[in-house]
Amino acid sequence: CRLVVLVSGAGSNLGALLDACADPAYGATVVGVGADRDGIDGLKIATDAGVPTFVERLRDHPTREGWDRALTRHVEDCAPDLVISAGFLKLVGPEFLARFEGRYINTHNALLPAFPGMHGPRDALEYGVKITGATLFFVDSGVDTGPIIAQVAVPVLDSDDVASLTERIKAAEREQLVEYVGRLAREGWTVNGRTVTIP
Ligand code: GRF
Repeated sequence: CRLVVLVSGAGSNLGALLDACADPAYGATVVGVGADRDGIDGLKIATDAGVPTFVERLRDHPTREGWDRALTRHVEDCAPDLVISAGFLKLVGPEFLARFEGRYINTHNALLPAFPGMHGPRDALEYGVKITGATLFFVDSGVDTGPIIAQVAVPVLDSDDVASLTERIKAAEREQLVEYVGRLAREGWTVNGRTVTIP
C-alpha cells in the first residue's frame, strides 16, 4: 500500500509511520511526504529517511483553488493508495477531495464530534471533560466531520496543563495511527455513508 503523508509540523506521527513501514510485514510504504511550509521537522524526518518531499505554500498561489490544484497534482504524481494528514494544518479544497475522498484520512487530537478544530487539547481542558482522546477519520468537506475509523480514549488529569495533555494524547494518537494505517493497508476498507468497515 502506497502512502503519501502530509505534514505541517514536528512530524512525530510521520516518524512513527516510517518506523512501522521499515518492517515489510506492515504492508505499507511512504512514497512521498508533502508540506504546506518549509523548514519544518516533518520534512527533515522524510528527507533523512530518503523519502521524496514536496512543498506547496498557499501564499505562492494567487488563489486557494490554484494551491489545491497544485497539491492535488503533487499527491497524484506519487500514485498513493492512501493519503494521510498527520498534523497537516490546511483544509484541502474540492479538487483534492474529488480525487482522494475515501482515501484521505486525518488524525485529530480529541474525541470527535467533541472539540473539532485547531485546539482539541486546550478546548477539552477548558471544558473540563475527564476523558478525551484521538480520532482517526476519513476527511470530507467539513472540518473534522468525516466518517470515523477509530478512536482512543485518554484520561484528563487534574494536574494537566495544555502541554501535558497534548503529549499524552499524541502518544495514544501515534499508536492508533500506526495500528489502523497498517490494518487499512493490509486488509482494505469500505466507507458506506458514515460507516467504515475494515474486513
Ligand atoms: C497531532 O496531535 C494532530 O492531531 C494535530 O497535530 C499533531 C501533529 O503532530 N493536528 P506531529 O506533527 O505528527 O508531531
